[in-house]
Amino acid sequence: MRVLGVNSVFHDPAAALVIDGEVVAAAEEERFSRRKHGKRPVPFSAWEQPAMAARWCLRQAGLTPADVDLIGFSYDPALVRPAADMGIDDAWDDLRTVYAARAPEFLADELPGLDPARAQFVRHHVAHAASAGLAAGPAAGSGAAGSGAAGSGDCAVLVCDGRGEQDSFLAGRYSGGQLEILATQPLPHSLGLLYEDLTAHLGFLRSSDEYKVMALASYGQPRFLDLIRAKVRPVPGGFRTDPVNWSELAPARPADGELTEAHADLAASVQRRLEEVLLALAGELHEQTGDQVLALAGGTALNCVANTVLHERSPFGKIWVQPAAGDAGTALGAALQIAADKGEPSWSMTDAGLGRGFTAAEVEAALRTARVPFERPADLAGATAEVLAGDGVVAWFQGRSEYGPRALGHRSLLAHPGRRANLDRLNDVKGREKFRPVAPMVLADKAPAIFSRGPLPSPYMLFVHDVAPDWRDRIPAVVHVDGTARVQTVDPRTQPLTAALLAAFEERTGLPVLVNTSLNTAGRPMVDDIRDALECFGSTPVDALAIGPFLVRRP
Ligand SMILES: [Fe+2]
Repeated sequence: MRVLGVNSVFHDPAAALVIDGEVVAAAEEERFSRRKHGKRPVPFSAWEQPAMAARWCLRQAGLTPADVDLIGFSYDPALVRPAADMGIDDAWDDLRTVYAARAPEFLADELPGLDPARAQFVRHHVAHAASAGLAAGPAAGSGAAGSGAAGSGDCAVLVCDGRGEQDSFLAGRYSGGQLEILATQPLPHSLGLLYEDLTAHLGFLRSSDEYKVMALASYGQPRFLDLIRAKVRPVPGGFRTDPVNWSELAPARPADGELTEAHADLAASVQRRLEEVLLALAGELHEQTGDQVLALAGGTALNCVANTVLHERSPFGKIWVQPAAGDAGTALGAALQIAADKGEPSWSMTDAGLGRGFTAAEVEAALRTARVPFERPADLAGATAEVLAGDGVVAWFQGRSEYGPRALGHRSLLAHPGRRANLDRLNDVKGREKFRPVAPMVLADKAPAIFSRGPLPSPYMLFVHDVAPDWRDRIPAVVHVDGTARVQTVDPRTQPLTAALLAAFEERTGLPVLVNTSLNTAGRPMVDDIRDALECFGSTPVDALAIGPFLVRRP
């Protein structure tokens, strides 16, 4: 059976294609439209469909729209209540519901041949839950994420985001591919919306820049914690989030305004409280299920600091996080849930490279068209490591693009971790704020000697780790102000070329670590196709582009 999953209501529109239970393609619309997050999450944009991503998914499998058996939309308009009843202040919420109900027709209009009568609406938080609970698969039960061995595939699941149709949280349990819902939290109470409100108050972009607030929190002291605790508290089966008058604690910051100690302290206070409440929710869920594995999704699960607190302090033995934990991942989840409901075999995620890939011939043709001089080294990993060891910045474009917001060695910007100045250098290339850290990628078998506290292996960069004291001066570019790093471990079994690059770099420098940040410039989505890579290379001070088997050097 061919199931097309679609996320289109809020933001991060995306499509995923599941054939006979297997995910064959998944991609976010932003990678095609070159518009970050695809669209703003306002009611007026809810009609827009991820048509380019959906078209590509079908083409990837050699299918036409008429070949789709079922379409799963990750939002069920029948579950929405009037905004006033939900305590949501949005006079246009009805419009969103109207558009969501019409989504099958809107998509069919852009993909002629698609039959809107084959559409099913999947509850938003069930789609999130499936993206984690079903995709974690048997891998969740074994020690190494990505290795297929052992484990029953049964797990607890916790979803927390800004909002779905009428809820902001779901806790449950997957068994035999079926979800039992144990708790939900109706709006207006929402940990995600609380964090978004703070993001806007701090002068960042709501529903987009929440990770900047998390980074900022490490610079502050949680001196407003007691006040936040009074407003935000766990209750049996959920939580309460009463409105916080942010201005009483720290002045609203205009975009690009100065970040003060009060701003950092406020971020630290809310971050800490988020961790406390998630811990309480996870504790309650464990009491109900007794499971070893907890699968996480929903935008809050991109908070790698909170994920690490859950790993360290919750009663679960293992935390598995869907790398596309935000709304993009619900396209995958909606399709997986429909497939599971039809009794299709289960699939487990072992790599985030579910997007576009290109053959060597396609890359070569594009380089010739652009009249870019290039070489084809016999040892690409060695030649690239040489550039990095000489303190060059390298754009690394290999294999299929990542599904989800993290660059994981498919569309990455790499640099030498031993030079402290490389943090500023990369932030300059990308036009990023100075306070934001860059992350390390590390050979999986070398990671335990360097990184601790967070789980290892950590293939999707969704947890933070402590850097061993004797390593902090050796890899200063990737050590955050609080002595932590957000690690991606690279396993030669799943990413042989990137592992070979790390090994070649270690041979030259003694460091099995590289700085890894996403391949894009400020405000743009990650590079996805060859042309994006050439545009990025042409407009930034990047020293080399390793694309497929080819190396392009800046003259
Ligand atoms: Fe969501």
